[in-house]
Amino acid sequence: MPPHQPHVVLGVCGGIAAYKAVDVCRRLVDVGVYVAPVLTDEATRFVGEATFSALASEPVQRSLFDEASPIPHTRLGQGADLVLVVPATAHFLARYAAGMADDLLCATLLATRAPVLVCPAMHTEMWEHPAVSDNLALLVRRGVLVVAPEEGRLAGGDSGAGRLADPDTIVARALDVLGATGSVVGPGRGDLAGRLVVVSAGGTREPLDPVRFLTNRSSGKQGHALAEAAARRGAKVTLVTASALAVSPGIDVVPVASAADMEAALRAVAPRADVIVMAAAVADFRPKAPAAHKLVKADGVPDLVLEPTPDILSGLAAERRPGQVLVGFAAETDDPIGRGRRKLAQKGVDLLVVNDVTAPGAGFDHDTNAVTILDADGGATAVPLMSKSAVADAVFDRVTAQLDPERNSP
Ligand code: C5P
Repeated sequence: MPPHQPHVVLGVCGGIAAYKAVDVCRRLVDVGVYVAPVLTDEATRFVGEATFSALASEPVQRSLFDEASPIPHTRLGQGADLVLVVPATAHFLARYAAGMADDLLCATLLATRAPVLVCPAMHTEMWEHPAVSDNLALLVRRGVLVVAPEEGRLAGGDSGAGRLADPDTIVARALDVLGATGSVVGPGRGDLAGRLVVVSAGGTREPLDPVRFLTNRSSGKQGHALAEAAARRGAKVTLVTASALAVSPGIDVVPVASAADMEAALRAVAPRADVIVMAAAVADFRPKAPAAHKLVKADGVPDLVLEPTPDILSGLAAERRPGQVLVGFAAETDDPIGRGRRKLAQKGVDLLVVNDVTAPGAGFDHDTNAVTILDADGGATAVPLMSKSAVADAVFDRVTAQLDPERNSP
């Protein structure tokens, strides 16, 4: 059977960044994707229909009513493997969040079960407006994927947050999403192809006796999303996890419970790893002498003596092989960036992902997260509230920039 040609509906809204959607369209077609362009009326004020019609796999469509079929939105929506919106304007996000179906693009979005990837672009004031943040947060909660805008030059000579992400980033993300749906464009694709990525996840459980343990509120969702993202991007993945969440086939899973188990499992695989991401919430203390038999009430309240656990990440950093990229996580409640910077230096890692676990929608057990990725050169990348899967991609975008392009896992 010939491989399935992935179908992308490319929605283009009316913003100055619409001209960059031309490049996204061309690049997707170049790698074998079928692209059906849908322009809003406002988009045509910025880019010509003829440009997209010439480059895409079929002519531009703009209206619910001008095709031979009276229901073009259902044909487009049902046939799509991905709906990609470049640029997503504030007006579009509001209409999509409200479930409006008053033009072909919004009607198609209601008529699809395919993943949806939106790439917002607008002036900083608009991007930071609570109405826009709220609409985007609502869409993220519904599973919509986002390629966040970057800081940079905006229309009218202004500069700030809100510039459309680079077309390279958008195309890479779209191909990753298509890969995850099974519509792989070509073998060995992905910027982590040929790499071994090791991820730790979940909260460790430190036994008090055979039936009781000390643990924390980590769900493992962010760690598992990291493992899935690395696999989507072509890596061979080992996931050392204290969480019982489901894992996609193809990911090697090493289930663990305590910090000691996790350390042993990580040390066994670390020498071969190109990238190690310590997303696990490792207990800092454990009972010094767990009881061999269940503690019983009749014996009175036990004396609980704790001892520190080994710092796994510092140990891995001390023994890392050249070129290996190490990423730590830090869940903080006070002065997250300051504490994160100190932790990055103390632990000797390349990147530290700081999580303010008190921020709404971020941290333990949520499906969304907002983080800041600190690097060893003093740089910081703010990743606003988005799905944990999108946060995972933001982390690997930073990781791939640090990987030596010549070197693969031994
Ligand atoms: O020191 P703290 O727990 O805040 O550091 C967080 C980072 O260190 C995380 O990446 C976590 O997985 C890792 N860690 C570790 N061993 C420990 C405690 C934390 O590897 N004992």
